[in-house]
Amino acid sequence: GKDVITMTAGKQAADIGKVPDAMTHALRSLLGEERFLTDAESLAHYGRDWTRFVAPAPSGILLPISISEIQTIVSLARQYKVKLVPSGGRTGLSGGAMAAKGELVLSLERMRKILQVDKAGRSLTCEGGAITGEIHRAAAEHGLMYPVDFASSGSSQIGGNIATNAGGIQVIRYGMTRNWVTGLKVVTGTGELLELNQGLVKNNTGLDLRHLFIGSEGILGVIVEATLGLTDPPKTPRVMVLGVPSMASLMHVLTGCQAQLSLLAFEFFSDLALQKVTTGQGIQPPFKDRYPFYALVEFESASAEAETQAEQLVEGCMTQGWVDDAVLSQSESQRRSLWRLREDISETIAQWTPYKNDISTTVQKTPALLSKVDALVARHYADLEVVWYGHIGDGNLHLNILKPDTVSVEEFQARCKSVSHHVFRVVQELGGSISAEHGVGLLKKDFLHFSRDPAEITLMRGIKAQFDPDGIFNPGNVFNA
Ligand code: MLT
Ligand code: ZN
Repeated sequence: GKDVITMTAGKQAADIGKVPDAMTHALRSLLGEERFLTDAESLAHYGRDWTRFVAPAPSGILLPISISEIQTIVSLARQYKVKLVPSGGRTGLSGGAMAAKGELVLSLERMRKILQVDKAGRSLTCEGGAITGEIHRAAAEHGLMYPVDFASSGSSQIGGNIATNAGGIQVIRYGMTRNWVTGLKVVTGTGELLELNQGLVKNNTGLDLRHLFIGSEGILGVIVEATLGLTDPPKTPRVMVLGVPSMASLMHVLTGCQAQLSLLAFEFFSDLALQKVTTGQGIQPPFKDRYPFYALVEFESASAEAETQAEQLVEGCMTQGWVDDAVLSQSESQRRSLWRLREDISETIAQWTPYKNDISTTVQKTPALLSKVDALVARHYADLEVVWYGHIGDGNLHLNILKPDTVSVEEFQARCKSVSHHVFRVVQELGGSISAEHGVGLLKKDFLHFSRDPAEITLMRGIKAQFDPDGIFNPGNVFNA
């Protein structure tokens, strides 16, 4: 891909906070040379997430290996008034883990142990830096499943998943990360260690502070340990990809699938998304012909009956004109290949520095959201490539605008941001969210008021001040404190 991280480099030197020498010495003696990195390559690597609209400029990278080291780091940051950016697998898409103003990056990379799997209690406890894919494997070794999954699970970390309340491809069946967190250990901005909910299934003892940290995007403190619920893996999952003539048809197909299948996923993507992914990844398109949209439907097919039911459903949809073509996986390897058509889109289009809209409304209002936003897109982006995909079964649409080579990142971002005002007004009118799953971070904070009213934002600021009175954690993210 093209590297655009130097775009604001010239302006940055003045903004960069300096870490006082006394703090540098204290950090060196705590972490040694090899766990306190300041070389240019590490600063660029750890200072950013997957976004490319803000240039990374951290003062240093800290790689603690224990909770007590983290507490010491937070105490030092308080004492010397230095800011910290908690950092996981850096796969975020909203700039929520960017260190752009001389902050220290507090990376959980060395705290990735799975600590325990409790088979009877169906739970898993791990350090905050545990890789999502390793949690999946550990659960599977015990015949169980951690059901939050998405394309970046091979490098994303659980602390980041929790801090962004990650969604993914099976939310329609299992819900978001929030549904699966039964315990958290966090270090707040005062350096205090809190143990929240201790893995309990039942605990009605006042305000549940655990839920404040889920989706907190690093502004209250850092997640150092988590206990997660596990469940049974689905029985014989199968995938269908359907060629669909319109977005309206997609909603009819969804209704049919909800009623007649044991659904695990209901995703969609546009023809341009399919073209990009098949060309970019060198994979076979599912059909000879092309259709405006495709649905990817995953369902449990434990019996021959379930398969017949799926086939009948598709035939019925074809008769109605809602589906034009269909393919059903006949093996596990076919199921995986079909999933790639949807899961590899994000990575494939990353080379065009996409401007990402991640919007949602209730499933019931999704057709209205689709048609209104589609009209705006036709009006404002007629000259640009627009890639639609997403979790349509959850009412969550990803609308990616691709940057043409001839336009600078700044110009492109400014233009898309101005169109966002129109898109977000539609979202607001429909009572939806401007960020369904990627979070607010740095990139969407100017738009927070489209989804949250002033009273809520004032309360959020107050909560931030309670947990982080000196404002050391992830400054400028979500809102200006
Ligand atoms: C996805 O659904 O593929 C992810 O949210 C990533 C993305 O939107 O690019
Ligand atoms: Zn998504």
